[in-house]
Amino acid sequence: MEKIIELSHVKKIYHMGTEKIRAVNDVSFTIDKGEFCCLLGTSGSGKSTLLNLMAGIEKASGGEIKIKGYDIRRMSEKNLADFRQRYLGFVFQAYNLIGSMNAIENVELPLVFKRVSPEKRRKLAIKMLKQVGLAKRMEHRPKEMSGGQQQRVGIARAFVADPEIVFADEPTGNLDTKTTMEVMDLIHSMARRNSQTIVMVTHDPRLADYGDKIIHILDGNIQDVEVRHTAEEIEAECKAEAEKFKEEMLLKKKKREEKRKKLMEGLSEGKGKNEL
Ligand SMILES: Nc1ncnc2c1ncn2[C@@H]1O[C@H](COP(=O)(O)OP(=O)(O)O)[C@@H](O)[C@H]1O
Ligand SMILES: [Mg+2]
Repeated sequence: MEKIIELSHVKKIYHMGTEKIRAVNDVSFTIDKGEFCCLLGTSGSGKSTLLNLMAGIEKASGGEIKIKGYDIRRMSEKNLADFRQRYLGFVFQAYNLIGSMNAIENVELPLVFKRVSPEKRRKLAIKMLKQVGLAKRMEHRPKEMSGGQQQRVGIARAFVADPEIVFADEPTGNLDTKTTMEVMDLIHSMARRNSQTIVMVTHDPRLADYGDKIIHILDGNIQDVEVRHTAEEIEAECKAEAEKFKEEMLLKKKKREEKRKKLMEGLSEGKGKNEL
């Protein structure tokens, strides 16, 4: 299995006046391509810092971070920004949607940065919003949606550019239990469908249960790395999920065609559209 993320002796020290805070303290681990990896630990243990280091949002104080074999600590700002746009997606706890934009426009954003044409990005955004179950909310702005719906937009935005890795920091932290499970299932099945790698931060062991690998963090250190599924098991699940999705899409297409056929037949029999 390809190692898509490799950390070796990674450190992050924050300086607060004269105090040194070791948020991440000599951490080494690897994540395989296609793996759903959870970073689990209590509040303040350094999970978000670690995620931000891997995602190139913050600079490490030491060690080596390789993503797809590239040492991101040695990249220029410009190259790192391009790299992130090309390969990485993000889901945030507070959704981070743009309030003045509707769902479609929010989902389109990563494609705007990638210079995808307006027609193509609209088409892709609509397709993604349908996939996350928001076909009827596409014109809504964030404040016109529930938390769960906003996070579905956040997920559509994270996945729209088909990134190889999606980072998620407590993506269900602001949601109720039922919505949390729906959103977790959504992230899981979206990732499996396209064999994408997920790195998710959580303080909740029940959510970490989704992980193929659980990395337990305490005070900036790794306590334990728990491997739940083998590469073969992950691959089999990805195949099954992709197959299931293909079938669902075919079924939807068939239903649409049947509806159209019925409508055409009705029209040719001289009935108005309203009588059907
Ligand atoms: N920008 C910062 N400046 C100073 N200290 C920080 C900063 N970000 C995080 N920390 C400290 O680093 C430690 C780890 O924080 P964080 O990674 O946010 O933990 P978690 O996500 O597990 O709750 C905490 O003690 C926190 O106070
Ligand atoms: Mg955090």
